[in-house]
Amino acid sequence: MAEIIDTRTEPERAIERACAVLAEGEPVAIPTETVYGLAADATNPDAISRIYEMKGRPRFNPLISHVSDMAMAEAHVTFDPLSRRLAEAFWPGPLTLILPQRPTSSVHALASAGLDTLGIRMPDGFSRRVIARFGRPLAAPSANTSGKISPTSAAHVNADLGPRLKLILDAGSAEIGLESTIIKVEDGALRLLRPGGLDVLAIENLTGLSVSRPESAGATIEAPGMLASHYAPGAAVRLDAGDVRPGEALIRFGNAALPGEEHAAIVLDLSPAGSLREAAANLFDYMKKADASGAATIAFGPIPPEGLGEAILDRLQRAAAPRD
Ligand code: TXA
Ligand code: MG
Repeated sequence: MAEIIDTRTEPERAIERACAVLAEGEPVAIPTETVYGLAADATNPDAISRIYEMKGRPRFNPLISHVSDMAMAEAHVTFDPLSRRLAEAFWPGPLTLILPQRPTSSVHALASAGLDTLGIRMPDGFSRRVIARFGRPLAAPSANTSGKISPTSAAHVNADLGPRLKLILDAGSAEIGLESTIIKVEDGALRLLRPGGLDVLAIENLTGLSVSRPESAGATIEAPGMLASHYAPGAAVRLDAGDVRPGEALIRFGNAALPGEEHAAIVLDLSPAGSLREAAANLFDYMKKADASGAATIAFGPIPPEGLGEAILDRLQRAAAPRD
């Protein structure tokens, strides 16, 4: 079973142990502000292989390289002016940029799945201190079995990957609760590859440019991780429910009661006060709770599509997609 170290009570020991395990080429589960990541030395092909193995992740799906500061980022990618502005405004934070990898970069091709670009992000929170001490980028996908719901707590990670992991750093619940927003700049235009924890509107307000969306969920081959059936709970998922069928689990928003919910297996409200930020932070935990109720189907009440609602609905559409 994994050793779990609480970063709030033992920060120094957490950093030291994490760096020691990473140096052995073993993945470590680390807390970022978005979700918990399964991190390994991005320059070590064996360590990266261990990530793919542990998650059961297809190897054509590239990983994000996490850095602790701009100097580390500059050593591995080149910034166009627009990407640099985004990095300066939103890093550390829930934004991943797709940028050309420098020929001199030591990030291994296994991390980028052989692409000539790197997904790169400077995370906020405790993980950044680990990267700074380790001194090299950490490749990290979300710390869950491939295709399952991303973990927003150390307990989520432990329940899923605990038996296979050496070390989990526990910093409590992830503040944002949704994976990073992924942006690629092309010919001075902004393309959204994945909606996430950074509201697209904040990017549009900063730059005065509009961000173009992928054609439809799952259509973006360019971010190959955007497979249609992702974020799947065990139960089936029914979206935009107008009522609740007996025995279903219900997840709703904004205290909006649905007809029939008295016969639900469980009723959870993502944010009774109607805050999308709070809803994002609760989403994956509530999906796991609804799943654990034993209901065969999770019904979701309506969720507003604007702001962070876009990323929430993206995850729900993937959760509802047909599975293989
Ligand atoms: O918030 C997050 O982004 C979390 C935390 C741990 O940082 N990480 C995360 O990683 O969500 P993951 O592996 O679940 O998602 C990474 C996404 C995938 O959809 C992948 O295809 C895309 O990033 N990606 C990575 N490198 C890319 C590249 N060079 N070009 C296009 N897409 C890339
Ligand atoms: Mg993931």
